[in-house]
Amino acid sequence: MNTIITLLHSRDIIPDKNVDLVLLKAQKEDVDILSQMHAEAFSQSLVEIKTTKASLLDSLQRPNMVLWKFFDKKTQNIIGMASSTFDGHLIHLADVVINKKHRNQGFGQLLMSNLIDQTRLIYNRPKVYLQLRITNQVALHVYLKLGFEFVDMHHLSNQEKWLKAS
Ligand SMILES: CC(C)(COP(=O)(O)OP(=O)(O)OC[C@H]1O[C@@H](n2cnc3c(N)ncnc32)[C@H](O)[C@@H]1OP(=O)(O)O)[C@@H](O)C(=O)NCCC(=O)NCCS
Repeated sequence: MNTIITLLHSRDIIPDKNVDLVLLKAQKEDVDILSQMHAEAFSQSLVEIKTTKASLLDSLQRPNMVLWKFFDKKTQNIIGMASSTFDGHLIHLADVVINKKHRNQGFGQLLMSNLIDQTRLIYNRPKVYLQLRITNQVALHVYLKLGFEFVDMHHLSNQEKWLKAS
């Protein structure tokens, strides 16, 4: 099923605390690792990985976009990633991934609560939205638990209409 759903988060969130794990702006030298992480999570082909790498590199140059790495200060490893884009009205979160071997240990919720809090602080507390496949039960569970709410249900082709109307 290819149905994409849109979830909106519109309230303050107190991020869970973890002294070792921090959300930092990614740098050029992180992009190889982030592309691999992205590829594993979204089962991309080699051609798509190249495109992803180019698009992640491009995102570092875009003033309205931040590429984030979820960094473990203790082990010096990147264990997750995400991106945020501000259109002047809403923040769009995307590319949310926790490295495979670190999943199901609460890190996705930790990343997301920090991501919502940090991005809303940067842009003066706008609403935050993201989109996902309805079949992605783990992500859906995590997002609803953190307070995201269904906005509407669209197929890919209708998404822009909602964005323009919001
Ligand atoms: C989605 C993702 C970021 C979540 O990260 P994570 O570190 O595994 O998440 P957490 O450990 O914080 O939480 C997982 C939750 O899902 C629950 N869960 C596990 N399997 C599940 C399933 N099959 N159905 C529903 N919930 C499930 C866990 O019980 C846990 O919830 P709980 O804390 O209430 O018990 C991670 O799975 C991932 O990177 N997936 C691949 C990329 C992806 O799909 N990204 C999202 C795109 S929108």
